[in-house]
Amino acid sequence: MAVTVTELTPTTGVEISGLSGSRLVDPGVAAECRSALERRGVVIYREADVDDDELVAFSRLLGEVVPLPMGGHATHPEIQRITRDPSKSPLAAYRESTFHWHIDGTTEEVPNRATLLTARRIADDGGGDTAFANTFAAYEALSETERKELDGVRVVHSFTASQLLVTPDPSPKERAAWDRNPAREHPLVWTRRSGRRSLLIGATAGEVVGREAKEGRELLDRLLDWATRPEFTLRHRWRQGDLVIWDNTGMLHRALPYGEASARLMHRTSLAGEEEVA
Ligand code: SIN
Repeated sequence: MAVTVTELTPTTGVEISGLSGSRLVDPGVAAECRSALERRGVVIYREADVDDDELVAFSRLLGEVVPLPMGGHATHPEIQRITRDPSKSPLAAYRESTFHWHIDGTTEEVPNRATLLTARRIADDGGGDTAFANTFAAYEALSETERKELDGVRVVHSFTASQLLVTPDPSPKERAAWDRNPAREHPLVWTRRSGRRSLLIGATAGEVVGREAKEGRELLDRLLDWATRPEFTLRHRWRQGDLVIWDNTGMLHRALPYGEASARLMHRTSLAGEEEVA
């Protein structure tokens, strides 16, 4: 089958058809994937149909795979099952928070490098697409004055901030459980060794250091509205077997809402971070 490669928006996403199963588990394919990830942020292999062994093997060719002991997968501790069905994943109750724009691992010193997500079963209720917003492109499109205003600004990221979006009025017990997850302060603008810059924002961004809560919130909301404008975003409508990989360091992402009874089931692996936020 011929391989076709299509760039999806002026800044973001590349879709590759004609590569599936064991053909993906190849060092050359992985090198091209990493390069596309750097340039385009999101790489989509249409109907890749990788089984769990192939998903883990391909992930290992791309980077260091993070073990996910709470993933809910019986035989592959590297795989997390993404579903709202609590019989399939101990984290099913937290899925609703992924309906808000976020970046994974922002409460860690070094956020994950990338995420791989493959569709085992797609949603049957019209929801469940995955959307991406390119914060490299959003930062670059700010005016010079706006960029200067963000120099030196620091933000506190927490699990609590993301949960408050779903449950704004938690019980004291719920709140105390969330607060046990340590928060982390990071620069708002992440400058890479390569010189590229992205915005580190999203659901976990709770407060701006040294600013009144309202003023900080306004800045974070304004930047999130900006970064998620149509010109910086890409929406993926899943087909069963698709494999989507994104650069977690500069792509906000979210699932479009799907119901608690939805059949949607994704298998996910995560690649360890390679560069701390500076
Ligand atoms: C995630 O937020 O990591 C999962 C996204 C999705 O389920 O589409």
